[in-house]
Amino acid sequence: MAVIEVALDGRSYDVTIESGLMERLDTVAAKYLPRKIEGPRKVPFVADATTQKLYSSAVADALRPGGYETEWFVVEPGEGAKSWAVLERLCDWLLGLGITRTDNVFALGGGVVGDLTGFACSILKRGCGFVQIPTTLLAQVDSSVGGKTAINTAAGKNLIGAFHQPAAVLIDPMVLDTLPDREMRAGYAEVLKYGLLGDAAFFKWLEANGNAVLRREPSALIHAIATSIEAKARIVAEDERETSGVRALLNLGHTFGHALEAETGFSDRLLHGEAVALGMVLAARYSARRGELSIEDAARAAEVIAASGLPSDIAALNMDTNGERLVDHMRHDKKMESAGTLPFLLLRGIGEAYMARDVALDDVAQFLDGEL
Ligand code: NAD
Ligand code: GLY
Repeated sequence: MAVIEVALDGRSYDVTIESGLMERLDTVAAKYLPRKIEGPRKVPFVADATTQKLYSSAVADALRPGGYETEWFVVEPGEGAKSWAVLERLCDWLLGLGITRTDNVFALGGGVVGDLTGFACSILKRGCGFVQIPTTLLAQVDSSVGGKTAINTAAGKNLIGAFHQPAAVLIDPMVLDTLPDREMRAGYAEVLKYGLLGDAAFFKWLEANGNAVLRREPSALIHAIATSIEAKARIVAEDERETSGVRALLNLGHTFGHALEAETGFSDRLLHGEAVALGMVLAARYSARRGELSIEDAARAAEVIAASGLPSDIAALNMDTNGERLVDHMRHDKKMESAGTLPFLLLRGIGEAYMARDVALDDVAQFLDGEL
């Protein structure tokens, strides 16, 4: 078992990583469950149809002996659940259950369920508690930690949201056994990100052990999850609201990646983690073009990504596009500044990401034309 603290003034919380945790939820989650003595105690869970089908019985069985009943709000799997309509239904459902500001709502699922539930809890009665039980690798190493919550609108992804930290994050690596391989790889891109952005030794470890992580070998998997969360916890503790530039480092690969996702219509053609993986290759190659990263290190970044089965070559996607079109998507990025500049996360070395504010989008377009 590993416990990692996210240290925040007055709002610190623990991330617990424990194999088989789901079946011991009565003890692991004891301090987050309702305390009232009289009558059956109802615990609200939000899940998607897949995670509910896979894990609701285990959760209900674990909580029943303590006199708890689980109540479920179930959404369709996929981004569609991060919408105004579903948010409204979820808030009404929680109000109907009589949730108070001191209660916790449990989010059992991937980043979609976590982001939706966290946002609902940030506005319900001006803020109630929630506990993240992330079930995808992406959610375990990234989205469940750090308090970013959001829904999507017609204008774009994650444009309506709030910072609202969970009361706890409870991670059972064993639930990844049921995760499709493609989703596992997509989450693994975010694991690689922590190595590339700030931890050369972890990157080297992933070069040697990445396949063991992807095969879900317990000790490798737990090491990868814990190291990723330690990195994220440090960054969030230093810059919770992404104001100093430190938390922005977590966006490595995301500016290129977001343009690729937009160009492919945010569809299954390119999952978020796949776009981030390719985005990191492009960030490395662009850093090399600027003379800031060695050609060898840019190749190392591409190789580790390719070796894990993630896309590492934009030309292989056969996209009918060009640099200017991709850069146009970047112009709508929510990180675009009023001065017309877009901060780019680039690399000076493996484990040395930095924010560049002098990147000319025309130059990025030219670079992408050469890559396509
Ligand atoms: P997801 O929640 O859509 O889950 C992916 C798929 O895996 C779904 O079909 C889901 O039903 C299925 N699934 C989940 N757990 C499973 C399991 N254990 N076994 C089998 N199937 C399982 O996607 P995601 O990749 O987890 O999250 C993506 C979302 O996270 C996006 O909306 C993104 O914007 C958000 N995100 C948020 C943050 C943040 O800091 N808040 C960071 C990164 C991404
Ligand atoms: N996933 C980026 C962040 O949490 O800041």
